[in-house]
Amino acid sequence: MPDEQFSKPTPTPRLPVIGKPVLGIESSCDETGVAILRWQPEAPGQGLLAHALYSQVKLHADYGGVVPELASRDHVRKLLPLAREALKQAGLTPADLGGVAYTAGPGLVGALLVGAAAGRALAWALGVPAIGVHHMEGHLLAPLLEDDPPKPPFVALLVSGGHSMLVEVKAIGEYRILGDTLDDAAGEAFDKTAKLMGLPYPGGPALAKLAEQGRPGAFRFSRPMTDRPGLDFSFSGLKTQVLLAWQHSDQSEQTRADVARGFEEAIVDTLLIKCRRALQATGTHSLVIAGGVGANRRLRAELAAAGEKDGFRTYFPRLAFCTDNGAMIALAGAIRLAAGQHQDESVQVHPRWDLQSLPAA
Ligand code: KG4
Ligand code: ZN
Repeated sequence: MPDEQFSKPTPTPRLPVIGKPVLGIESSCDETGVAILRWQPEAPGQGLLAHALYSQVKLHADYGGVVPELASRDHVRKLLPLAREALKQAGLTPADLGGVAYTAGPGLVGALLVGAAAGRALAWALGVPAIGVHHMEGHLLAPLLEDDPPKPPFVALLVSGGHSMLVEVKAIGEYRILGDTLDDAAGEAFDKTAKLMGLPYPGGPALAKLAEQGRPGAFRFSRPMTDRPGLDFSFSGLKTQVLLAWQHSDQSEQTRADVARGFEEAIVDTLLIKCRRALQATGTHSLVIAGGVGANRRLRAELAAAGEKDGFRTYFPRLAFCTDNGAMIALAGAIRLAAGQHQDESVQVHPRWDLQSLPAA
């Protein structure tokens, strides 16, 4: 005989009343992010009621990179206290929530499972629907949280630790990948190059900071794969070029900054060339830049300047919403819940997940 308590059918989740707040949970890698957002189509950013983030950077620093098992365990520790903090910030109780969104992939499987299990269980207990969000859709929609949000169609440059992608966004949920990374992603190239030059983890932002002191033109590296047609990226060769230049230099502090500057210019220039091509190929005049590398100051300045010159508009999330955060997951989840989409009651994550396989929202 099955235990009566567990054989009872579970209630069908009620769909969110439009305007009810959605809890968003991000736990795909080394940041635990929680946010609460009430979906408002015309001004999504104004619906953001709270967001809280805990970065695991210190936890992984001794190892020089993210240790997946430690990441999962820390998400377990931090997730519910952060959710409590976000509810307090918003002046809400769990009973006020109309739905729960969590990152279901891509990412580290153990880390994803923490957010998915907690999110799913919370939704079940509250009798509200839950939705698993694609992490890159979250990044891609993050600029919608700002004033004067972009409207599809647009081209999105998604540059994070795991991805360098150019995506044609015809509508929310209708994505076509125009170009992808063949090896290291842009953020990964920043991190690995920083490590080669002796900078502490996490290297990307440190390398970018160092580059600000570098002299223009002191080192020039190649712009990979720009000498042939196509929109794919490859940054692993650039990393080797930088290593050789650094090893054969005087290794002074000024040289370290000069090399960092040369590397950053090569990445930014390459991304700019490919963005221009993608806009031309799609006949689009709006460019969204998102993901952790979107926080890079040179990239933001160069793309904005190119937009003014060429006549396309650029949209960036604020710096805090370029890197991983709960707000972008609450937003993407709220849009899909408002469209009537939700998951069944099993806990499912997708460490690898094709952005193009998502349904229209
Ligand atoms: O989107 P994100 O927080 O996590 C992933 O989904 O991967 O991106 C993290 C990546 C890291 O590789 C980090 O080095 C890079 O973004 N990043 C930067 C900057 N800030 C973060 N890269 C260059 N310049 C920055 N200012
Ligand atoms: Zn990310």
